[in-house]
Amino acid sequence: MSLRSFILGLSACFGFPWLMVVVVPFLKMRDIEPIPLVDDTGETIGVFNPKRTGRIADGSKIYAENGCYLCHTQVVRPTYAGNDLQRPDWGGLKTDEGDTRRETNAFDFQGESFAHIGVARLGPDLSNVGRRVESLYAKGTDPEMWLYSFLYNPRAEAERRRSFCPSFAFLFKETKVTGARSEKALPGVGSETTQILPGPDAEALVSYLLSLKKDQEVPAPLNFAPVKTAAAAP
Ligand code: HEC
Repeated sequence: MSLRSFILGLSACFGFPWLMVVVVPFLKMRDIEPIPLVDDTGETIGVFNPKRTGRIADGSKIYAENGCYLCHTQVVRPTYAGNDLQRPDWGGLKTDEGDTRRETNAFDFQGESFAHIGVARLGPDLSNVGRRVESLYAKGTDPEMWLYSFLYNPRAEAERRRSFCPSFAFLFKETKVTGARSEKALPGVGSETTQILPGPDAEALVSYLLSLKKDQEVPAPLNFAPVKTAAAAP
């Protein structure tokens, strides 16, 4: 084989896949417009682009490190695969004020380095846990504090006595109280002279959990909400 045909062959071997894998997709996709959010009157009111950065992104790593995904999913299944949308709280919230329930779609994970879709459903789906904590569980108290207390001891509330969500007490630290108790001290735990404070990992994890509100409005082609099916029914 001459050097010339070797170089030509080598360029073809690498050049052709490069064209197909890099250049062609780039040319085809560079002009894709972000999906617009359209209101009822057909007017564009923004762009559907969920963002998860900063402490929320750090919290996502803590979520992965502690294996939350082994028991918790983050996929509100379509009705053909499960009854998630029939629940009043997993896919969003169904209350007297309205109904934000919808299925999860691929855009819900945009901007996340990991899509924690989960391995098994031993615990509740967490796609909208931020929404549930704020509206249902915290009952007018600080939602962050509710989550701290839950992660410290998931079995503290009477109705959760039999919860097998593991305690993540190691994400908290016990310190001596000098002067007044810290505002961040967990209520009802610690002793006369000590207080339990969330560590940096607990703070990041709770920011992440509170950010989980994947029931925002999505463009019509992505919206598989129960109301849509209800409207189609006679
Ligand atoms: C061994 C399985 C398991 C693991 C691992 C696990 N959980 Fe849980 N979790 C559960 C179960 C079961 C429940 C439901 C019982 C209850 O209400 O506490 C639950 C409930 C919860 C709830 C309350 C949700 C609701 O709507 O009632 C939150 C929040 C939560 N877990 C967060 C976490 C986080 C964060 C992690 C990782 C740091 C984690 N869990 C790891 C099993 C698990």
